[in-house]
Amino acid sequence: MVGAGTIGLAWAALFAHAGLEVRVTDPRDDLDAAVDEALPMLAESIPGADVAALRSRITATDDLAKAVENAQLVQENGPERLEFKQQLFAEIARHAPADAVLASSSSGIVASAIAAELDEDVAARLLIAHPFNPPQVVPLVEIVPGATAEEVVQEAIAFYRDLGKTPVRIHEEVDGFVANRLQSALMRESISLVQQGVVSAEELDAVMKASLGGRYATIGPFESFHLGGGPGGIRHMMAHLGVGMADRWAELGRPELDDATITSLVEQTETAYGSGPDAYRERARLRDRKHNAINSALDGIEADPNATA
Ligand SMILES: NC(=O)c1ccc[n+]([C@@H]2O[C@H](COP(=O)([O-])OP(=O)(O)OC[C@H]3O[C@@H](n4cnc5c(N)ncnc54)[C@H](O)[C@@H]3O)[C@@H](O)[C@H]2O)c1
Repeated sequence: MVGAGTIGLAWAALFAHAGLEVRVTDPRDDLDAAVDEALPMLAESIPGADVAALRSRITATDDLAKAVENAQLVQENGPERLEFKQQLFAEIARHAPADAVLASSSSGIVASAIAAELDEDVAARLLIAHPFNPPQVVPLVEIVPGATAEEVVQEAIAFYRDLGKTPVRIHEEVDGFVANRLQSALMRESISLVQQGVVSAEELDAVMKASLGGRYATIGPFESFHLGGGPGGIRHMMAHLGVGMADRWAELGRPELDDATITSLVEQTETAYGSGPDAYRERARLRDRKHNAINSALDGIEADPNATA
């Protein structure tokens, strides 16, 4: 685990819970303390996890070479800057085994850019494995290959599936991949509606949680459209409501994130949910409990789709 910030520490806990020996490296002075401090809350959010058991499988070191020398898979979670990741992966490749999978958690930088100056055999082992925050709770891992060998892509998909994640292969190296592009589209319209005073930030969240949030956890936008058309499915839906939807695209907002807008969004959000470390911990715990409840309910239904509710 290279980089022990928000994402690296969460991945470390999840990897350790899966029984893997995890070596975490980060130049931060407080690395050991950061692991100790993060684990109790992370363990709380991983069903069945035990802090002491997780801690016994995690070794912290400031020596990158030692951290990666026997790794089956390296998960990189350093700062989101291209040149930084290019140098970091050059260093990782010097010390990791020649058959290790080299994965970056990057939210938007593509693998072929990171590998641009690296040897072909290193580029062939490097890909993006992008989690959605918090990675120990949210199932998705976007697998975005660059010049990656097919067997490495398959190995990575199998690795994250074995961790209990839902890996989805992305076929083109588009900026922001898929989940964050969808989030950007939603945030754009959400900010526009709040900016216009149609709803407050808290009311918008209420609308979302009571409608699209649950819907999209159970069926995606396309299946939803298909079912929304009744027995005629998406064919009927497109003929019936498709044109109206396309007309509405033209009037979706394009809000500017100017100072006044940011101030208003921050004030509304902090008033609704509090601010500072204590409020953060309380809200994050609640988020993780709710998300885990959804995960386990859906797992149960997937396991027995014909049971009645
Ligand atoms: N935070 C999110 O919501 C989120 C979600 C998905 C993916 N990501 C991606 O994960 C990566 C990490 O993001 P984060 O939010 O955890 O950042 P963060 O700032 O919390 O952590 C980054 C860590 O990298 C460490 N670091 C700096 N130089 C290093 C080096 N040479 N070797 C090892 N570690 C080094 C820093 O000390 C810090 O602890 C980024 O690429 C980001 O795009 C973030």
